[in-house]
Amino acid sequence: MLWIKSLHIIFMVTWFAGLFYLPRLFVYHAMCDDQAGNERFKIMERKLYFGIMTPGALLTIVFGVWLWLGYGFSGDWLYAKLALVIILIIYHYYCGKYVSLFKKDINQHGHVFYRWFNELPVVILFAVVILVVVKPALF
Ligand code: HEM
Repeated sequence: MLWIKSLHIIFMVTWFAGLFYLPRLFVYHAMCDDQAGNERFKIMERKLYFGIMTPGALLTIVFGVWLWLGYGFSGDWLYAKLALVIILIIYHYYCGKYVSLFKKDINQHGHVFYRWFNELPVVILFAVVILVVVKPALF
């Protein structure tokens, strides 16, 4: 099981690399006013979202569920963790939506919106790692 946990953590790091960097690209893309830069950001966002972030998300979840079933865990920490992971999956979906809006040159948000949007994964990472390592009794 420790091999599965290793893979779970490795792909979690891969997923978070995208969750931290893609919204940062959105910040600069929203400020970009030259066509060459606009096209370059589209390529970077597409490769990051489909080539790194989405495979990272899927494999984090596959190995996480494998650990859950393998160890037969239950408890407040796991349910709170899963609730936060669901928020992370919704956040991931919105990142994909913004990638396609930028691709069609119909982005509606400015760089300030994306700076705030960029903060959510940081908060969730702190909460999830503390929940899974400390396993506090919550309720
Ligand atoms: C559906 C998604 C997920 C499920 C079902 C899941 C489930 C689990 C389970 C059962 C463990 C083993 C806990 C232990 O051995 O003490 C684990 C370990 C871990 N998970 Fe997840 N996880 C998921 C997503 C995530 C995400 C998104 C993160 C990061 C933010 C994460 C971070 C970790 C870490 C750091 C460990 C190692 C903890 C330790 O060894 O003490 N997991 N996960």
